[in-house]
Amino acid sequence: MSKRKIIIDTDPGQDDAVALLLALASPDELDVLGITCVAGNVPLSLTQKNARIVCEVAGKTDVPIFAGCDAPMRRPLVTAEHVHGKTGLDGPELFEPTMPLAGDNAVDFIVETLRREPAGSVTLCTLGPLTNIATAFDRAPDIIPKLRELVMMGGAYFEVGNITPAAEFNIFVDPEAAEIVFHSGVPLVVMPLDVTHKVLATKDRVAALRALGSKVGVFTAEMLDFFERFDVAKYGSDGGPLHDPCVIAYLLKPELFQGRHINVEIETESKLTLGMTVADWWRVTDRTPNAMFMGDVDADGFFALLTERIARL
Ligand code: BDR
Ligand code: CA
Repeated sequence: MSKRKIIIDTDPGQDDAVALLLALASPDELDVLGITCVAGNVPLSLTQKNARIVCEVAGKTDVPIFAGCDAPMRRPLVTAEHVHGKTGLDGPELFEPTMPLAGDNAVDFIVETLRREPAGSVTLCTLGPLTNIATAFDRAPDIIPKLRELVMMGGAYFEVGNITPAAEFNIFVDPEAAEIVFHSGVPLVVMPLDVTHKVLATKDRVAALRALGSKVGVFTAEMLDFFERFDVAKYGSDGGPLHDPCVIAYLLKPELFQGRHINVEIETESKLTLGMTVADWWRVTDRTPNAMFMGDVDADGFFALLTERIARL
């Protein structure tokens, strides 16, 4: 497999943190050009700090980290401390990171990188609200055809919502940004709740990570111990869903996932269903397909990959 150049746009978040670790543990396949932070699970001041903590834990302090938008394009920020805790990364003992934030704004970094790199060479991986990406697309539409692909965690169809009855968090926080991205024409791969709710960090799977005995293995297990309590209480499942790492796992082993190339539209007006991803799974409209919308995953294969990669750090 040739090495893929990626930019990871994120709002850590324990599951974002695991996604970052999975990417940083896979240098043979992935070249992480930069990590761009956005407000989402917690405010930007914390998401950028958490990204630096994760890179320091992984011993990968040479990856540039940028701070981007601190609020959605047209709405006040909605956060998710009820899921992720006050810091966004509750669970392990946290520390003040020493690696500096890169000077440039995340949106400028995205625009400049896509303009500089050869067309079709950079993949955007989005793990949070799409504010940074849509702002970049708005400001510099010339970068859109230069992207190889955008792989996102966001949305839901059969699983409907997690932040409202109809909407998934990342899309709900900034539906106008999501609409821009889904209408951009960029090749899109979507990891909705339909997939991520099958990727459960059960006790045995978390124990396998802890049993690695390494600093990163234990750090990951401690984050997941905290993260699972919310979803276990809510859904009665065996463990918390590892949403965001699905994006990185897809880049490493696409055969773990199955989906359909369909049309997906974003609801931006309704009071009841704001942020819903209206996915034409059954192809009942003649709307043009704009996304590879995943529906199934080999969860055991996913955790085998994750554990093997975390062991490398
Ligand atoms: C998404 O929302 C956040 O809470 C998680 O980090 C994930 O990106 C799941 O709905
Ligand atoms: Ca996230």
